[in-house]
Amino acid sequence: MSKKKTTPAQPSLESWTSNRSLINWIRKVRELCEPDNVWFMDGSKEEYECLIEKLIKAGTLIKLNEKLRPGSYLARSSPGDVARVEDRTFICSKNKIDAGPTNNWKEPEEMKKILDSLFKGCMRGRTMYVIPFSMGPIGSPIAQIGVQITDSPYVAVSMRVMTRIGKKVLDILGDGFFVPCLHSVGMPLSKSQKDIPWPCNAENKYIVHFPETREIWSYGSGYGGNALLGKKCLSLRIASVMGRDGGWLAEHMLILGITNPQGEKKYIAAAFPSACGKTNLAMMTPTIPGWKVETVGDDIAWMKFGKDGRLYAINPEAGFFGVAPGTSLKSNPNAMATIRQNTIFTNVALTDEGDVWWEAMTDTPPAHLIDWQGRNWTPDSGERSSHPNSRFTAPASQCPSIDPAWEDKAGVPISAIIFGGRRRDTVPLVLEALNWKHGTFLGASVSSEMTAAQEGVVGKLRHDPFAMLPFAGYNMGDYFQHWLNIGEKSSPSLLPKIFFVNWFRRGQDGSYLWPGFGENSRVLKWILERVSGEGAALKTPIGYLPKKNALDVEGLNITKTALDQLLKVDKEAWIKDLEHLRDYFKLFGDRFPKTLSEELNELERKLKEKNTKKDAVLKEAP
Ligand code: OXD
Ligand code: MN
Repeated sequence: MSKKKTTPAQPSLESWTSNRSLINWIRKVRELCEPDNVWFMDGSKEEYECLIEKLIKAGTLIKLNEKLRPGSYLARSSPGDVARVEDRTFICSKNKIDAGPTNNWKEPEEMKKILDSLFKGCMRGRTMYVIPFSMGPIGSPIAQIGVQITDSPYVAVSMRVMTRIGKKVLDILGDGFFVPCLHSVGMPLSKSQKDIPWPCNAENKYIVHFPETREIWSYGSGYGGNALLGKKCLSLRIASVMGRDGGWLAEHMLILGITNPQGEKKYIAAAFPSACGKTNLAMMTPTIPGWKVETVGDDIAWMKFGKDGRLYAINPEAGFFGVAPGTSLKSNPNAMATIRQNTIFTNVALTDEGDVWWEAMTDTPPAHLIDWQGRNWTPDSGERSSHPNSRFTAPASQCPSIDPAWEDKAGVPISAIIFGGRRRDTVPLVLEALNWKHGTFLGASVSSEMTAAQEGVVGKLRHDPFAMLPFAGYNMGDYFQHWLNIGEKSSPSLLPKIFFVNWFRRGQDGSYLWPGFGENSRVLKWILERVSGEGAALKTPIGYLPKKNALDVEGLNITKTALDQLLKVDKEAWIKDLEHLRDYFKLFGDRFPKTLSEELNELERKLKEKNTKKDAVLKEAP
């Protein structure tokens, strides 16, 4: 940046908004946090550039080579602030039972006391940024408005990429309701801390939600999933409660449009646990000729019934906060094009030319890098150059595969919902649920090998129902019931069909049986054929599976043995899985829907039926 940017003149609070509850809340926060300055964000480019300049000066951002990566920056976080912190995330409903057994809980008043003392004076010496934002296209009937207050300029610039912010949001808000989202990096400024480029409080983080009053308080972390409060906190934890109360769905799902060679287009929503390839699937380049995939969103879907009885989805976000390692021209050319410019990278490596690099970006690593902790790195360093959960933050509008309807206020009609997880065994490549109830059971049964997006043991299997375990803002047992209720709100012919996929199945030697990435279009093709009532399927106890030759594998280098394994119903393994599931579901006590227990019992009974010859369980599907 050549010219020095001056801080824009700030309006008074009353001239900025006339929304009484917003004025009162901002006054209260200002009194509590005692910032030196208040900055009302207008969302302009000039404002963004001014903040970027401040961040460069503070050492938080490094400007990347303007020729190689125009308008882009690298941030290195503190090593103690690299991922979501599930053990520090709380759902503070009035009653513990309403948060459920899978969420941390504290009584709201008790939690407010803790937070009040932590936030007291926490912005002294800092600027408090006030960011009105819309989750979803501004003015969409499915969208929601939030206002984030933060003392982190890194968070402020990231919010401008990930959501729609500024004056136009205030105009739509008028006197209406907004979700108050208060955030602090939780590090009072003292002389010795002044020059810390990534302020945070590694030892004392609180990510807190008050579902009944729809409030969010986040303390101690600058990491996206903990600090960009429109994302996981509002769009999933608080919105899931809004959806329960209002008869709609807020889900951890990508949304894509897929068009067949005849030009027929359908939309699909898909839920996978964190870092299971949602961004790759959302931006996929199909390998089968004549097919096209377009991207509506890569992480979150809000779905409401339209007047025609169909579910319509919007992507509440405006950007992608994707996992960098593994992203390459081979695995996701659309993501690579999206992040060509105007991108904020966090915790990736810096090349000698001033560009970024991460593991598997290219086949051959550069001879020298500065790693994510600012140290010299060479290929024989024996360590990763980028943190496994390093990220890119980029505007969705830059994605070459962005769907023409991605900002449609009415949303896009969803024809199929897919669940999936990272499973080396048991779960076949694809299956279709027998009906909505069975699909809800399948969603509840999702489990996945853990990845670096969560703190925990990478590779360990954990239950992650609907890929929502860390994101449901209320009792997961009630959440299952809500899904069953949604299935009663429309006719089966109008509801999306539900599918389950597993791209991660391994053979006996440990290698992947399915090539994944663009080849997953073959599975999407079968799914679309099923939606249109065409694809051939066999009815098995676990659901409909592609009939022999129904899956298009033309031109694919895959052995018959691998394909058989991928589409096999491994009864013994399923029976074992059901035993674990039955145990897991006990956790929800009497909040666990009886309908799902019946689904489980019925599935177990069918799998244990004695007289089943190898194929007797398989029937032609309707
Ligand atoms: C994410 C996550 O960042 O799920 O999307 O952790
Ligand atoms: Mn996610």
